Amino acid sequence: MQKSIKIFSIVTILLAGAAGYFGYQTYLQTHAIQSLTGGLASTRADLASTTAELGRVYGELGNTRIERDGFELSYRAEKKRLDDLSFQVQNIGSMVGVLEKLQKTDPELIAKYSKIYFLNENYVPDKLALLDPQYVFKPERGLRIQSDTKQYLERLLTDAARAGVDLQIISAYRSFGEQAGLKQAYSVTYGTGANKFSADQGYSEHQLGTTVDFTTKALGAGFASFEGTPAYTWLLAHAHEYGFVLSYPKNNSYYVFEPWHWRFVSRSLAGKLHEEDKNFYDLDQRVLDTYLVSFFD
Ligand code: DAL
Ligand code: ZN
Repeated sequence: MQKSIKIFSIVTILLAGAAGYFGYQTYLQTHAIQSLTGGLASTRADLASTTAELGRVYGELGNTRIERDGFELSYRAEKKRLDDLSFQVQNIGSMVGVLEKLQKTDPELIAKYSKIYFLNENYVPDKLALLDPQYVFKPERGLRIQSDTKQYLERLLTDAARAGVDLQIISAYRSFGEQAGLKQAYSVTYGTGANKFSADQGYSEHQLGTTVDFTTKALGAGFASFEGTPAYTWLLAHAHEYGFVLSYPKNNSYYVFEPWHWRFVSRSLAGKLHEEDKNFYDLDQRVLDTYLVSFFD
């Protein structure tokens, strides 16, 4: 019996010890969990505050971006407006330049004559200048040419001389009255045959002041045989560079072949005609008119 009491006591002590141990462990765990839970709550609070701060910063950044995008849009719109304005001003400027040029350039200078259009007895080029006598056959005749055309012709003559080409001018500007007298004289000699090589007054390109008849020192007044000269060959290759074209090539519809008769029609038009192997009278008058603006360029 004593032994049973002893065993019971030992078991009771052991059970009490185990209960105490497990109780203590449970206490420790509960405390640790409570402490962890507190820490977690605090971390969550911190996170919430950080997230709120981040949200505020993003919000501000978003506003700044909107402001920046808005500024960029206004900048672009303003720049486009100024570019458009500048383009318009340039356009107006070049249009004014074009109008000024057109206003200063006599439209008759690009027109077809030769039995097509008529220049009346009052038509005289706006300005005429004397040709340098060194280039004129019989310089005492004081040949004149339309002033703006003079520089192109004299450059042609100078370059031809440099190239060793003998080239002279035998006829240049002829007034309505001079043409009438010339035609009258030819008609007396050749009758209606004169119509094949001489224009009636009012229809001659010579009245424009931009047209010349070439000869050479060697040929002089015998310029009818000009076709066989090196001067004619040189003109065929180079006259367009100075703005001159042959008005009456072989088989033209108006007059006999006149290798000596050259008209200034502008460098751009003469260049185009040369390139396309065309004659001035092949083009429609509306096409010719488009070259007036660059006539003296
Ligand atoms: N010889 C040309 C056709 C003129 O008289 O104008
Ligand atoms: Zn002529």
